Amino acid sequence: MQILGIETSCDETCGAVVEDGRRVRSNVVASQVDLHRKYGGVVPEIASRAHLEALVPVVDEALQEAGLRADAVDAVAVVHHPGLIGSLVLGLTAAKTLAWLHEKPLVGVDHVEAHIYAAALERAEPVFPCVALVVSGGHTSLYRCEGPCQQTRLGATTDDAAGEAFDKVASLLGLPYPGGPSIDAAAERGSPKAVPFSRPWLDREAFDFSFSGVKTAVLYHVRGQGADAKQRSTDLSDQEVADVAASFQECVVDVLVGKTVRAADVCGLDRIVLGGGVAANRRLRERMQQAADEAGLDLVLPERRFCTDNAAMVAGLAYHHVQAGRVDGLDLEARA
Ligand code: KG4
Ligand code: ZN
Repeated sequence: MQILGIETSCDETCGAVVEDGRRVRSNVVASQVDLHRKYGGVVPEIASRAHLEALVPVVDEALQEAGLRADAVDAVAVVHHPGLIGSLVLGLTAAKTLAWLHEKPLVGVDHVEAHIYAAALERAEPVFPCVALVVSGGHTSLYRCEGPCQQTRLGATTDDAAGEAFDKVASLLGLPYPGGPSIDAAAERGSPKAVPFSRPWLDREAFDFSFSGVKTAVLYHVRGQGADAKQRSTDLSDQEVADVAASFQECVVDVLVGKTVRAADVCGLDRIVLGGGVAANRRLRERMQQAADEAGLDLVLPERRFCTDNAAMVAGLAYHHVQAGRVDGLDLEARA
């Protein structure tokens, strides 16, 4: 079964074709990073306009790379929730048009569920059941997953998502946009022990997260506090920037790893899956692997290209919806 996937929930226009839920036949991502850079974050109106321009060429390229015509796909899948509403509507309208025109089933997919499913792409080994940590620009959540479409949320962020904290701290340190990959790179040259930021464990028993406090701690560290506060980030040496980046990253990684391993223990599951843009972070991948090995758990890491937003994860997950008979009508709505 060949499924065409479309994803436009934030700032990447994505099209992909996936066979039988696993084999990725094409995966096209048109990034809008250059358009949003000068604003230091995603501007929703600019994102919508850019999706409108990129959608048709991206879908065409995804079909061409897979060697398929639009009328040869078995279903059209699309992320309809959650995301920027103006952006979601564009992908959804494109998917509905293709489904209607070629008389194919339409499959609406949840963006966060698709991030979890990314680990199953191009992989023969089982991924479910598992405990899944989704860490992206908009989400930091832990789930207990029985299968690709059956999950229970164990906890989530109470304020900033992990990726959002990476992006804001990068901007404080004067590192280039987008911030997550910049911190990842700068931290390679720094010491994770340079600044002992206190770890936001919250209630040790709970699976909720909070990263806004550590973000403020970084702000005070680089700019000073109270009457002495000044714009010091520009005066930091490259080594100081690298040390703060590595120390901040270590703090976030400690909490993500600690809570995820504990969730696996509490749920009695022996497999952990990571998903979302921050799952591309090298230190998180390395530390989660060490912790999983020590605890005797199986860790499934998606390929880095499947961590950040893409449509292969959407087309892959949709296969399981179709198998379960869950398809949508043309009245499917986008939800922010
Ligand atoms: O999943 P994603 O592409 O979009 C959302 O659903 O939000 O995640 C984007 C987030 C951004 O905050 C970005 O800075 C972060 O993932 N990110 C990273 C890395 N690559 C992307 N954060 C840390 N280290 C990375 N290597
Ligand atoms: Zn995402």
